Amino acid sequence: MSTQNTAPATAATAEASVTRIQQHRSYLMCRPEHFTVSYTINPWMEPANPTDTAKAVEQWQALYDTYIALGHDVQLIDPIDGLPDMVYTANGGFIIGGVAYGAKFRFQERVPEGPAFMEWFAANGFEVAEPAEVNEGEGDFLLVGDTILAGTGFRSTGDSHRELGEVFGKEVVSLNLVDPRFYHLDTAISVLDPVQGEGGVEKANIAYLPGAFDEESRRILEERYPDAILVADEDGAVFGLNSASDGLNVIISPRAKGFEAQLRERGYNPVLVDLSELLLGGGGIKCCTLELRR
Ligand code: ARG
Repeated sequence: MSTQNTAPATAATAEASVTRIQQHRSYLMCRPEHFTVSYTINPWMEPANPTDTAKAVEQWQALYDTYIALGHDVQLIDPIDGLPDMVYTANGGFIIGGVAYGAKFRFQERVPEGPAFMEWFAANGFEVAEPAEVNEGEGDFLLVGDTILAGTGFRSTGDSHRELGEVFGKEVVSLNLVDPRFYHLDTAISVLDPVQGEGGVEKANIAYLPGAFDEESRRILEERYPDAILVADEDGAVFGLNSASDGLNVIISPRAKGFEAQLRERGYNPVLVDLSELLLGGGGIKCCTLELRR
């Protein structure tokens, strides 16, 4: 399936007329059957506040159904009792070209998820690269074109960035996260454009939240992505950047009003999915989505 969307050519639009092309995606998700907040490993998690597992499952299902309706392929990993954060599959690894670099979680509560995901990868035809360094997968590593942007500061270590570069033989650009609310890179950067295969020429763009980064990292982002969408603090604060794009459709939180308008102006098609219950665990749309690049 491939749909196209042409932005209207108006004086207000920076890129006068842009054609966005949808790419097919394969994702790994995990139904939040055991979702709850029983510990605190990020500022969003408050065990004293009640969680509603049925509501989490219902909201998650809406995200799953959205991907399927858009023609994407979604695979599922079985949830494990006692691992309430397993729904955030983005943290389970990082995959390019059928090779899965496994996760090694920062906090004890999530450590058992690492081997569980690696087992799934191996059983589903991926070559697994076992990690020696602490890293939280696609939560902190984002493929933009042929470059991997890698976050550090809260979860994944700088050493994991080096290991990541060795596993995939790609350029890895380290970025420093400084705001504890945005502890994973995928809470502060959204990859918008299609990612192209080996050797192809490519124009990939991102959206990001400048305040989540230190000055040096902001300078790197400005230099590399002069056309990036700069997202306002109020949209970042509702996890607006924690989104999934197929090059045309960008699944975002309905609360990120400003970001929604910015995406429309650029010719993207924002699709709104509310994961308010999963935000109680400090995760959103992207966190619940791991890309399986065969
Ligand atoms: N409670 C989880 C944690 O703190 C949320 C993970 C969110 N995932 C993400 N890709 N940002 O580890």
